[in-house]
Amino acid sequence: MRGLFHYYETPRFREIAFLLWPLLFLKLATEKATLRALRAINPSEVMEIGGGWGKFARQVALLLPRARVVSVDSEPAMTRVAARHNRVRNLRFVTGDFYDLERGAECVLLSGLFVLLWPREDAMAQLWKLTGRAAVVTLTGSTWFTRALRHFHHATTGLEIRTIEPEEFRELAESQGFSCEIIPVHGFERSYVAVLRKDGP
Ligand SMILES: C[S@@+](CC[C@H](N)C(=O)[O-])C[C@H]1O[C@@H](n2cnc3c(N)ncnc32)[C@H](O)[C@@H]1O
Repeated sequence: MRGLFHYYETPRFREIAFLLWPLLFLKLATEKATLRALRAINPSEVMEIGGGWGKFARQVALLLPRARVVSVDSEPAMTRVAARHNRVRNLRFVTGDFYDLERGAECVLLSGLFVLLWPREDAMAQLWKLTGRAAVVTLTGSTWFTRALRHFHHATTGLEIRTIEPEEFRELAESQGFSCEIIPVHGFERSYVAVLRKDGP
């Protein structure tokens, strides 16, 4: 189903949307916590899925200059714009769908994407398949704000974002075999970063 805008085919619209208060502020808080988690894992390769505009992948590539970073997005328009605007030596952009990927990386990153994917039963199994050592996933729980945002997102993009509480996410991850560390980020949207490991902390 389509919403009011061809949101994911219109990279600039997505960037402008994030200037709405308090989305940018919340996004920056999540990005900071995610970068800290990635630095602690210190992987030699990172695959970001649903990288969108590519700005965060750029930050990851600069944070981990020895790592090979690949950012995958299912929308060719996103990948094209991301590649044009983020030229970094250890970063490349690829078009592909999360569910169709055969190969992943030592560390897989899903920033703001699992909220679109997780109700599908095979989402966690696919994440397991793609993850070499660790995965970093950013998520939100249910608050009045995220419920309102869900309606707004659905009206504009036609897509459903689904919040998930940390304990429910932990159960889902552990049932697949991951160990799961939850790092709370901001109470306003109950955002958190989940660090999933294949071999325990
Ligand atoms: C919610 S945005 C997240 C963007 C970015 N990671 C962020 O946090 O701002 C979702 C992005 O994932 C892409 N996407 C949606 N479903 C996907 C899938 N199944 N596989 C790969 N990318 C997907 C969309 O094209 C869009 O650019």
